[in-house]
Amino acid sequence: MNKQVYTRVAALLLSIPILVFSCQSPSEEREPKRGLIAEKAMVVSARGEASRIGIEIMKKGGNAFDAMMATEMALAVTFPFAGNLGGGGFAVYRLANGEIGSIDYREKAPGAAHRDMYLDENGDVIPGLSTKGALASGVPGTIAGIFEAQSKFGKLEPKEILQPVIDLAKNGFVVSTQQAGRLQSIREVVREVNGENTFYGKEWNAGDTIKNIALAETLERIASNGRDEFYQGETAKILVDHMQKMGGIITEEDLAAYEAAWREPIVFDYKELRVISMAPPSSGGVTIGQILKMVEPYDLQAMGHNSVDYVQVLTEAMRRAYADRNYYLGDPDFVEIPIDELLDDDYLKERMGSFNPEMATLSADIAEGKVLFAESMETTHYSIMDEEGNALAVTTTLNGAYGSKVYLDELGFFMNNEMDDFSSKTGVPNMFGLIGADANSIAPGKRMLSSMTPTLVERDGKLWMILGTPGGSTIITAVAQTILNAYEFDMTMQEAVEAHRFHHQWLPDQILFEENTLDSALLKALSAKNYLINEGRTPIIGSVDAIMLLPDGKLEGGADPRRENEAAGY
Ligand code: DON
Repeated sequence: MNKQVYTRVAALLLSIPILVFSCQSPSEEREPKRGLIAEKAMVVSARGEASRIGIEIMKKGGNAFDAMMATEMALAVTFPFAGNLGGGGFAVYRLANGEIGSIDYREKAPGAAHRDMYLDENGDVIPGLSTKGALASGVPGTIAGIFEAQSKFGKLEPKEILQPVIDLAKNGFVVSTQQAGRLQSIREVVREVNGENTFYGKEWNAGDTIKNIALAETLERIASNGRDEFYQGETAKILVDHMQKMGGIITEEDLAAYEAAWREPIVFDYKELRVISMAPPSSGGVTIGQILKMVEPYDLQAMGHNSVDYVQVLTEAMRRAYADRNYYLGDPDFVEIPIDELLDDDYLKERMGSFNPEMATLSADIAEGKVLFAESMETTHYSIMDEEGNALAVTTTLNGAYGSKVYLDELGFFMNNEMDDFSSKTGVPNMFGLIGADANSIAPGKRMLSSMTPTLVERDGKLWMILGTPGGSTIITAVAQTILNAYEFDMTMQEAVEAHRFHHQWLPDQILFEENTLDSALLKALSAKNYLINEGRTPIIGSVDAIMLLPDGKLEGGADPRRENEAAGY
């Protein structure tokens, strides 16, 4: 601790001339800003109701896995932007006894999907086909995932867990300000896709109460009949019928064949930290591992948080890691991935060998596609810690905002547009500007590559942090920076979550800064070294929900103010 305070002071002194950007790192003069502090258990998620339902389940005697089922479904009710039954996700866990693992409930390509399904007769990508409408959806994994995890590790009955969620759907939730804006912005397209009378095509304003009776009924059937209700029951039939009428290709066989998969997490060391994150088909664990290990040899504290030197070294690591990500990673059930090689110390050292502190390494000169950073996009992450000491980091998504925009009015939920996470054509960017290769081409039953990075961090052998975020391709770099903020710059959980972030993903070759965080001195210094900076509209980069275990055994929540995230605990 003393060493840390000392190095922090030294770093601040050394970095005064180049501290030109952000600096939400704690200064010596002011009190550190803390998030919610709880004694025993905590949930941090995108909606207060979802965090509180998770807590309610744990107070009833449930553990983190029971709370996961409740929180995930409460997000499906109150946060239809990303919370879902029609999507998928990943969860990384660490049990109280230190055992670790993860579950992959990522969507799969339907059996009738094929490599060129989004290309026209000239071999060009048909705009919109993988992002909007029934053809954009993969086979959903969420219900399989939460039941698989809960049945293995949970303590309560699903019926008991789901009851408060069903009540919430019936009694309604209040539309928040941000939510009203989002609903407003997609209303037309939702009506275009689903017809004028569709539920979310109505005019919903801030303060209105939304009661989703169709979703309450779906959840009631799932509570009574279990996960097979979704994959083989009445719900499955309604889903398939609806999707096929809209030109989709998901069949009853696809649903019946869906299984969540237990995966070995990616584990690596960063100095005295042990990071546990998601393995392929998420690129999260491998890519965050590459980034952190590439910057490990540099004295980041001395550079100063978000200084020119810091932005530069992290950018170069991000650039190199995303180049590997896009080439090598895909569904491990379909492609061979050289994970050990990609995380090998010597390999990563060599990879950074071309880093020149005087000049940017420009990404390969590949013609850049149109990058839709401006596309409203949403995923959601929640972090859970129970009083027994079990920890869960869970990220779940429909991909884009409200997924494919296909809303199943009879069932009360949106379907994903996760097929866009495949590489529709080598070299053509998807909606996050990510360029894919063969490893991530479409094949029946294959899972599309993800950037979701639910992550746990141990410090000195003990659990220290639970974190993750939405943000498409920016997820990985947002999680990496949050860990570095807390570890290298000694920020509290809340400060680490709030600090300004930046992002680079190899292609397009540009550094993305959040709005109002790029000042002219930083721009000048980076431009002089040939860095390309996105000076246009800069969206927020992620919306991190995290928990830190403090030295006194208490828990600190980090709920990102970029969105309406909320921590609850006891
Ligand atoms: O799995 C992925 O990487 C994307 N489908 C995540 C989408 C996302 O984070 C959108 N949110 N902001």
